[in-house]
Amino acid sequence: MSNCNLRVMYPGKECMVEQDKEYFDLVTEDGRQRIRLHEYDRVYDVPGLYEEVVYNKLKCDSPKVITDLLAKSLKKHGDRQAPLRVLDFGAGNGIVGECLKQAIEPETIVGVDIIEEAKKAVQRDRPDIYDDYYVMDLCEADEGDKQKLGRWDFNALITVAALGFGDIPTSAFVNAFNLLKNNSWVVFNIKDRFFSKDDETGYNQILQQMISNSLKVVKKHHYCHRLSIAGESLYYYAIVGRKENDF
Ligand SMILES: C[S@@+](CC[C@H](N)C(=O)[O-])C[C@H]1O[C@@H](n2cnc3c(N)ncnc32)[C@H](O)[C@@H]1O
Repeated sequence: MSNCNLRVMYPGKECMVEQDKEYFDLVTEDGRQRIRLHEYDRVYDVPGLYEEVVYNKLKCDSPKVITDLLAKSLKKHGDRQAPLRVLDFGAGNGIVGECLKQAIEPETIVGVDIIEEAKKAVQRDRPDIYDDYYVMDLCEADEGDKQKLGRWDFNALITVAALGFGDIPTSAFVNAFNLLKNNSWVVFNIKDRFFSKDDETGYNQILQQMISNSLKVVKKHHYCHRLSIAGESLYYYAIVGRKENDF
């Protein structure tokens, strides 16, 4: 999904700010509007805008990198033929779901995001990717939410570009992890700083504990997630693992 008719203007080096503060200008016949990259509701509302900025301009390759790593791990561990029922958590407008279908053809893919605009964008741009898509806050999942998700019997969780920066908090990630049965695949990426002693989000501590007690990492890959708007490479870790038990 791309839209060549979009006019987007990017700032230069003055935009050397944290990722969640980055912005660009969208120029339409109504004038010029400034949008922060993390204002997902506004970005998803414009068909093709997320793809134009994040994938074309900023060269993000994470959905492909991560789904390819999962495919390779499945092959290596002899699980290639096992039917995968995947929860795509922080699914956004569906690019990860699309890449998953290409890389591994799962039996089921269900998306969850916290904003309605993400679901609307999926229905508009990628209506055939997900078996279902829920707008929910897994920080506060009630029994009804847990039942809705539980009936899918997930054996894989994928989360791309959605941990930290005020997106998915640690408690919601842990709740998603605990929806999985033991031996499920767990695949995510996270900014390298948030998975180091310099972390200020709480993710490093949770992930270290998870890896000690509940998650066996089979692959840890350091790579360039995308460019910043100022043109610098932004490095993330991609993690592929298997759940050993609830956290
Ligand atoms: C950078 S986008 C990534 C979207 C998609 N995973 C991709 O790689 O194209 C981050 C997504 O996380 C979602 N998000 C933020 N906080 C969330 C939460 N607490 N629960 C679920 N989704 C959340 C946002 O709405 C947004 O769609």
